[in-house]
Amino acid sequence: MALGHDHPLRRGYDVDENAIRFSNYFHVLRELVHLSSGWLPLVPEFERKYRLGEHVHDDARAVSRIRRRLYELRHPSDYPGAPGPELAALLDRLAGADACESYLEIAYGEVKPALRRSLATHVENLDPVTDEPSLILLEKLIGRQDRHIAELAGGPVDGVAATADLGSLPIDLKAEPRRLRILPPLGDPARDPAIEVTPDGDPFLTDELYVNDPDENHVPIEPEEQRHFFHALMDAELCAAELMARNSHEHPEMPWDFHVDMARQVWDEVRHARVHDILMPTELGCRWGDYPVGFSYFRSIYAHDLLGRLALFNSTSEQKAMWRHSHRRKVLVERGQEQVAKVFDYLLADEVPHVHNGVRWGSHLLGGDEDAYRRRVRELREGLDATGAPVETGA
Ligand SMILES: [Fe+2]
Ligand SMILES: [Fe+2]
Repeated sequence: MALGHDHPLRRGYDVDENAIRFSNYFHVLRELVHLSSGWLPLVPEFERKYRLGEHVHDDARAVSRIRRRLYELRHPSDYPGAPGPELAALLDRLAGADACESYLEIAYGEVKPALRRSLATHVENLDPVTDEPSLILLEKLIGRQDRHIAELAGGPVDGVAATADLGSLPIDLKAEPRRLRILPPLGDPARDPAIEVTPDGDPFLTDELYVNDPDENHVPIEPEEQRHFFHALMDAELCAAELMARNSHEHPEMPWDFHVDMARQVWDEVRHARVHDILMPTELGCRWGDYPVGFSYFRSIYAHDLLGRLALFNSTSEQKAMWRHSHRRKVLVERGQEQVAKVFDYLLADEVPHVHNGVRWGSHLLGGDEDAYRRRVRELREGLDATGAPVETGA
């Protein structure tokens, strides 16, 4: 199609107005990533937890792109300022939700629809030629918000009290960054109502499934043990997603790239859970909910500070799981279970960046000193048994 030159340019927004609009979107999406990460462990149903995890990642990437556009418009600063009083009031209400359901209602029934309307207003009024970079970005954001709302809004969102065009709200460029509310510390994560949670989890699982010694590691090959093993693995993936989500939520002071890395891992882990959710009924003859699960390992990691969680989970548990996944894959290929073996191939590939998250952000917490981080990992590993579980101390 020819570019055309007979239509005059539209007046559109001036650069300042445009940057103010993107600043408002930044604040809305940043708050959504932060709070959805905090609430995700408390969403009981697997399907909704999966959706929320994927949206957190999608919105985290949107924040990165909006920051980039702000940097271009306000060169050389991408500082989004602080929300003005009207937007702050909306965000405070979102942050003030005292239960998972009311949070999701405000987020998906009110905030995201208001954001979506404002993005559409922006597209209708900008000049698509001088401001083509904004146009392309906004169209992508609208498509994503439409999908998120369709997937997680509990009911119709049309009747929602219309927040004013939130892109046009004032931004305070001289104010300190907005302080994000951190939810109270997590107890146990929530699971589907049909899941039985017990102190010790599934008694069928043996230590030999989780040791890294090539002579002692046992790959589950019998149908019955594979059923129990994959069921536990699905729960372990959910726990991993929940730990990463809380790492992000509980540390808003970390650089933005940390939150993007955590959001990506949240999405990866809920995707892994989905793989097992499909594999169980289609290949193994069982389903999610057939066996009990337990949270003692989750609690042992969650009890640590961020550095300890990265050292024990990303740099130890996930690092050691890489060897076991490749070992499992080999044994299953030899047995002709190609479909199940392929799963381990992908889990292994995804594990590489997860392990890297440990080194990257653990070193960051120690002033960029990677050697100091590796020493810390070695120290913390001394408290673990051969399966990676903390050694019981005391009675
Ligand atoms: Fe995983
Ligand atoms: Fe992982």
